[in-house]
Amino acid sequence: RRATQDELKQQVGYKAVDDYVKSGTVIGLGTGSTAAFAVERVGQLLKDGTLKDIIAIPTSIRTKEQAEKLGIPLATLDQYSDLDVAIDGADEVDPNLNLVKGGGGALFREKIVEMCAKKFIVIVDESKMCDGLGPGFPVPVEIVPFCHEHTMRVIAGLPALKGCKPVLRLGDCSNNKPDGDAPAVTDNGNYIVDLQFTDPIKDPVAAGQQLKDTVGVVEHGLFTGMTTAVIIAGADGISVKEA
Ligand code: A5P
Repeated sequence: RRATQDELKQQVGYKAVDDYVKSGTVIGLGTGSTAAFAVERVGQLLKDGTLKDIIAIPTSIRTKEQAEKLGIPLATLDQYSDLDVAIDGADEVDPNLNLVKGGGGALFREKIVEMCAKKFIVIVDESKMCDGLGPGFPVPVEIVPFCHEHTMRVIAGLPALKGCKPVLRLGDCSNNKPDGDAPAVTDNGNYIVDLQFTDPIKDPVAAGQQLKDTVGVVEHGLFTGMTTAVIIAGADGISVKEA
């Protein structure tokens, strides 16, 4: 029997914690259906005594609530700016281990937390691997609600994002399906624009920089140069790619 996608997500979620989380460390907990398995594993290992003295920093309200239920001790970046490791899923991974993240709407908190980690471990099933970022999964961008239609026009005109179509996320913020009439609102009270591409983004670093330089943009879902290693689960087993 082939493993289901959920089983693949569980395999990488558990492996990341087993291999990279040590007692007495500060860790970052990601957001999404794959990261949820890593959070579950931290809870299990704390409960059975394998792990001790962990402090965890969650990347969303959802993850915070899951961790609280599991009894994982939590803190914020205001208390700890240096993390030993952060573990999170991704929506797309390119051959240079650059990522698209934010399908689940948590990209700002994910980036601010994961930038602070000595090691950033990405966990995916093989469906997330791609040759170039963009066409396979829209790039989420968190923007300030004020004059958001103007900001969307500015984004559409950025040279490194040529050809993108910005779509305002509606309904539930934790997915990019148009499942409501009102704009989706992030944990930070902002909107999300999903940038649709037909061709791969040629230069993800330049694209990220131009988004970052745009007034009205809070943060974007291009995570470049951050990954320490990607753990990939596929039909033939688990593989690890290091940056
Ligand atoms: C959350 O904002 C995202 O960045 C998720 O980490 C990413 O979408 C992966 O989610 P899944 O593991 O649910 O695919």
